[in-house]
Amino acid sequence: MRLLVTGGAGFIGANFVHACVREHPEDAVTVVDSLTYAGSLESLRPIENEIRLIRGDIADAELVTRLVAESDAVVHFAAETHVDNALADPAPFLHSNVVGTYTLLEAVRRHDVRLHHVSTDEVYGDLGLGGTERFTETTPYHPSSPYSATKAAADMLVRAWVRSYRVRATISNCSNNFGPYQHVEKFIPRQITNILTGRRPKLYGTGANVRDWIHVEDHNAAVRTILTDGRIGRTYLIGADCQRSNLEVLQAILAVMDRDPGDFDHVTDRAGHDLRYAIDPSLLRSELGWAPSHSDFTAALSETVQWYRTHRHWWEPLKDGVEATYAGRGQ
Ligand code: NAD
Ligand code: TYD
Repeated sequence: MRLLVTGGAGFIGANFVHACVREHPEDAVTVVDSLTYAGSLESLRPIENEIRLIRGDIADAELVTRLVAESDAVVHFAAETHVDNALADPAPFLHSNVVGTYTLLEAVRRHDVRLHHVSTDEVYGDLGLGGTERFTETTPYHPSSPYSATKAAADMLVRAWVRSYRVRATISNCSNNFGPYQHVEKFIPRQITNILTGRRPKLYGTGANVRDWIHVEDHNAAVRTILTDGRIGRTYLIGADCQRSNLEVLQAILAVMDRDPGDFDHVTDRAGHDLRYAIDPSLLRSELGWAPSHSDFTAALSETVQWYRTHRHWWEPLKDGVEATYAGRGQ
């Protein structure tokens, strides 16, 4: 398969491309990535000779149309992804997530190329703390942040292009990912690298907010399954039944890293902070037979800590800048 992977130099995209090279050597993979602050050539360095990398913006219609015309399928990861950055400056989120997705849709429409659009559970808004309800494929959209609003807009564009132009597309909405190559601005890598650099971990508010965690390799295995076997026009929710409060996750990190359970700071809470996300992945499991393989959260977290310990060269150049930005926001 000639695969075009947008955002393949980012966290999930890079892991996806590594998996393609490892598990599907017959694929010819092209990555298109504009290498924003979140994209890293270093993430693709180990496989740089096995793929083609094009530095470019997915909102560049001419470039995207040419790359799509040469492909059998597109997996669309490229986006601005950090909620705190979206709160500070939403403009790049409108550009990449909305205009970028629109540009890609027009290209796959023109050349009748299959598209898988990667989205987030944050489009559904949040659930109450302490409840048992979970998001399903029919939960109404109710995004809270500029990030989730732009992802929701992108999902709606994909649905409209399927219905109006019969574009061959699928959508997945996944819960919070963790694993190798995740930017140190995000919760889990931030806390691990805070400890590794002698800083104290930072918890927003009380830490009661709940996220539903999934290892990035399990997310990507689901994306691959949907790309090959998913039904056109369908939305699939991806999650691994792993709800944890932020405080629980932080305490698990502190335990894995042999620190005192109280060795962290409470910092200013995020504006509009979503309370709880939880995914019901039944459709994906029953229709496509997917199941996560990293089911022991503490073991997977411990492997992730080990990855950050052994890949300091990958994250260290980013760390001071990220912490300076957070400090400016009181976080
Ligand atoms: P990331 O921020 O680590 O990487 C995003 C990549 O997209 C970067 O390499 C960046 O350079 C690239 N990019 C941004 N704008 C671009 C543009 N206009 N043109 C070309 N490239 C551009 O993000 P991630 O965590 O890997 O997320 C990937 C996708 O998965 C996103 O669509 C995100 O919404 C979705 N998602 C993420 C999570 C999560 O927990 N991280 C969960 C569910 C869904
Ligand atoms: P994040 O990784 O930004 O993902 P998202 O907001 O998309 O779910 O944050 C995960 C959770 O962790 C979220 O509830 C905010 C919280 N958080 C902290 O408590 N401290 C931090 O330093 C960061 C970055 C996030």
